[in-house]
Amino acid sequence: MSANNLAAANCAAIEKPNNKAHAAAPASIPVIDYEGSGYRQDFWEGQGRDYEDAVERIALQRLLPAQGGRIAEIGAGFGRLADLYLGYDQIVLFDYSRTMLADAVRKWGHDNRFVFVAGNLYQMPLAEGTLDSLVMVRVMHHLADVPAALNQLQPLLHQRSAAVLEYANKRNLKAVLRWLTRQQPWSPFDPAPLEFVAMNFDFHPGWMAAQLKNAGLHVEKRIGASHFRLPALKNNIPANLLARLDSRLFRIGGKFPLAPSVFVRAAAPDAAEQPQPEANTGDASPALLFRCPACATHPLVAAGPEQLQCPTCTRQFGQTDRIWDFKLPA
Ligand SMILES: C[S@@+](CC[C@H](N)C(=O)[O-])C[C@H]1O[C@@H](n2cnc3c(N)ncnc32)[C@H](O)[C@@H]1O
Repeated sequence: MSANNLAAANCAAIEKPNNKAHAAAPASIPVIDYEGSGYRQDFWEGQGRDYEDAVERIALQRLLPAQGGRIAEIGAGFGRLADLYLGYDQIVLFDYSRTMLADAVRKWGHDNRFVFVAGNLYQMPLAEGTLDSLVMVRVMHHLADVPAALNQLQPLLHQRSAAVLEYANKRNLKAVLRWLTRQQPWSPFDPAPLEFVAMNFDFHPGWMAAQLKNAGLHVEKRIGASHFRLPALKNNIPANLLARLDSRLFRIGGKFPLAPSVFVRAAAPDAAEQPQPEANTGDASPALLFRCPACATHPLVAAGPEQLQCPTCTRQFGQTDRIWDFKLPA
């Protein structure tokens, strides 16, 4: 199925009940490939985005419990935000790109609390109920099948977990003004996801709220962020000051999302009761933390010091240079 068709299917899924498909989603869902990309150097370092980085940090500090057992960032890239997770006993950085993770290993690999995992979030290798906190920032933007993704993420939570999810807002002020003045053909009020460039999607807040609900995620808080993404402001006001000013609009921006970026904190009231296994106990072995991304079997069995095997489909998954590799085909 093409990304466009998937976006249409996303839209059709608005009113569908959550089918809690915990097994892996079909491998045919397209995934953006950051393998070998210069995302850190080309998008962040010296690229005039200190303000966006600072705002996202304040948003996470507001929404995310500062401490806990196990946290995972899904689509963590090179670990830009990982210093915000240092209050946790175990920190999982999960990404589809092995090279981005290798970059993260260079920065964080000395700290044994970090677990680096290569995988596809549509074929989730983390076991159910394993996370106290889940973060996903600047990733929804690349998801052609949001309902399938959320159905993979929700089961990772337990009843006391917090998930902080960010998405790009289609109904932002600039898009509304451009549409009203006929400078843009598409309506920001149309609920369907907008694929404005291949594998880059903006979402309507109402549509996203429906997907979260369908996936069994209860939104406790929503904030609007990055209201001031304008060169005239970014070039003239120090990034940290602009970010602090922006944070004053978080609440109202959550009620009436007109900012280009929206963060939600969601809970999973129907998820597993307890974290399993606890991050700070000796039980947190990789065999328990992971499941088979192909057939969802859990637990896996140790097949060597850095090798796990699925007892059902016999696929093997190994760890090399600190990175567990769960990308399929294994
Ligand atoms: C724009 S980057 C954001 C990285 C990081 N969250 C940040 O804000 O710096 C998007 C990341 O999502 C990852 N990603 C996209 N689709 C994915 C998928 N299906 N499974 C796992 N990771 C995925 C990409 O590999 C990439 O590293």
